[in-house]
Amino acid sequence: MDDEKFKEILENCGLSAKGMEELNGLLSKSRVELLNGLINFNCDDIDNFSKIKSCMKNSANEISDIFYNRITEIEELKEKLKINANLQEQLKLNNIEYLNSFFDLNYNENYFKNTIALGLAHALLGISPSVYIVIYGYYANIVSSFALKCCQKEGFGLVDTLKTVNSIQKKLTVDTAFAIESYYKMSMDDNYKSERQTIGMLMSIAEYKDIDTGNHIARVSNYSKIIAKNIGLDGIRQERIFYSSQMHDIGKVGIADDILLKPGKLTEKEYEKMKTHCSIGYDILKDSNSLILKDGSIVAVSHHENFDGSGYPFGLKGEKIPIEGRICRIADVFDALVNKRCYKPAMSVENAIGIMEKEMKPGKCFDPDCFNAFLGSLDEIIQIKKNIDRDLDLDRNALFNDSDGSDGSIHP
Ligand SMILES: [Fe+2]
Ligand SMILES: [Fe+2]
Repeated sequence: MDDEKFKEILENCGLSAKGMEELNGLLSKSRVELLNGLINFNCDDIDNFSKIKSCMKNSANEISDIFYNRITEIEELKEKLKINANLQEQLKLNNIEYLNSFFDLNYNENYFKNTIALGLAHALLGISPSVYIVIYGYYANIVSSFALKCCQKEGFGLVDTLKTVNSIQKKLTVDTAFAIESYYKMSMDDNYKSERQTIGMLMSIAEYKDIDTGNHIARVSNYSKIIAKNIGLDGIRQERIFYSSQMHDIGKVGIADDILLKPGKLTEKEYEKMKTHCSIGYDILKDSNSLILKDGSIVAVSHHENFDGSGYPFGLKGEKIPIEGRICRIADVFDALVNKRCYKPAMSVENAIGIMEKEMKPGKCFDPDCFNAFLGSLDEIIQIKKNIDRDLDLDRNALFNDSDGSDGSIHP
């Protein structure tokens, strides 16, 4: 199967870029090695396979025909295959290609691509994974009975025949598992897409309330991901922090507009009210089954905690503050300082870092390790800010010029 054809099949599945990456990840060298290791054919198997190879290859068309004739006897599948006549034809071709390479014993990336494509094509037909496993069982049965005939033809004794059929069954089991994994990745991708859709909807509610602009959310989540990467969190945690940090201020939907949009400094009472956005955000998200939305509840409740315990709502200290909150605290403060808000002008990066280092301080407001990771990636962070703001046509100069005398105070 060539790359273009494989890409086309993935695209037809409506996978997100992440889903495509995940499926391609199945083809990583280590995965292919692991699967080949599981198959673990010995010299006898290799020898016997090569003896029946041409007989099996000659049977590939027939096997494929018998298989598809048999599965179209199942009412549910008949309908699905009838509607997708082209796909059915493609499936047959892939199947023949698969069977041919099966006996070549060259289980390389190309071989596994074909296996993924077969799994996905059945998924596209709307065939459930359990039905797919059962029909793969049929398939194994047909292949085995042809293999028996080929072994007989080649004059194999009973032991060699059993060994060969057994090895074929073993290999087909590994391939079924592999094809099913593509099903699984595809449904993970559906979950992934609906989670992101939910986050997107939450964010538009926030924007309607004029809480945070899309830019602020995009910037904070990108900065958070960079900090997460630089303190050594793995790719999955980075991804989760990227999305969960977008929800840090979602609780502000529960704050009255006269406080939320007040142009000047908040009174003490208003400030106390504003502080409740952390627990409101937590309450909104905490019961979700989605890991990312759950992480969002953690970021929401902990992004104003200070490392020395002087923050809110709980006054948690040090590592008692979830790492998501410690990271987002830095990203959020930095972004609030260097951007204009309804109650304050923008500040230069230099001055913002000065305030963060000397007044808010690592060890006081910020986790020192996260702060170092933040400082270490400042160039990357500034570049991201430029890119995001350029895209949304904002005044980029604000980043580098102190526009006027901001005192560095920011609303919660
Ligand atoms: Fe906040
Ligand atoms: Fe924020």
